Amino acid sequence: MAVERTFAMLKPGVLPRRLVGEVIIRIEQKGFHIISMKMITMSRELAETHYKEHRGKPFFESLIEYMISGPVITMVLERENAIPALRKLAGATDPDMADPGTIRGDLGIVTGKNLIHASDSAESADREIQLFFTEEDINVWEDGNGPWL
Ligand SMILES: Nc1ncnc2c1ncn2[C@@H]1O[C@H](COP(=O)(O)OP(=O)(O)OP(=O)(O)O)[C@@H](O)[C@H]1O
Ligand SMILES: [Mg+2]
Repeated sequence: MAVERTFAMLKPGVLPRRLVGEVIIRIEQKGFHIISMKMITMSRELAETHYKEHRGKPFFESLIEYMISGPVITMVLERENAIPALRKLAGATDPDMADPGTIRGDLGIVTGKNLIHASDSAESADREIQLFFTEEDINVWEDGNGPWL
């Protein structure tokens, strides 16, 4: 397994529901290195670019409206197997189908406001990281010799 980077975004519902800490603690406890983090309010253009593969689908407009309705927290995460590991931690798109123990399964209520975005492939991760971060934003750090790994 190779160390890889993935991109995560805490969606606009997370701040009003006071779930920032709850979501981030799950990411930390699963061993991801947070190597960059930024709070932003997306423009429509940025949100549409981010979700461009969904342009034309019935839920696209409501998805974009929601995603620009308030601030999001964007992160670059590094770990072995980071891309599938974060998808697993996020859970299925529909919170009612997501397993208990996942972020969406435990905390999500509706599909359109499912708390977290996670890159779905290496290509998506590269594209999304470049869309939201520059290389200068990245802060790589090492684990010590702690007992946690
Ligand atoms: N049928 C649907 N009805 C309403 N919203 C939907 C539907 N399908 C997807 N969405 C919304 O669009 C987002 C992007 O859909 P996608 O198929 O990429 O799911 P995902 O990869 O699990 O989620 P994300 O890309 O946000 O990590 C979903 O997270 C969800 O908020
Ligand atoms: Mg997706």
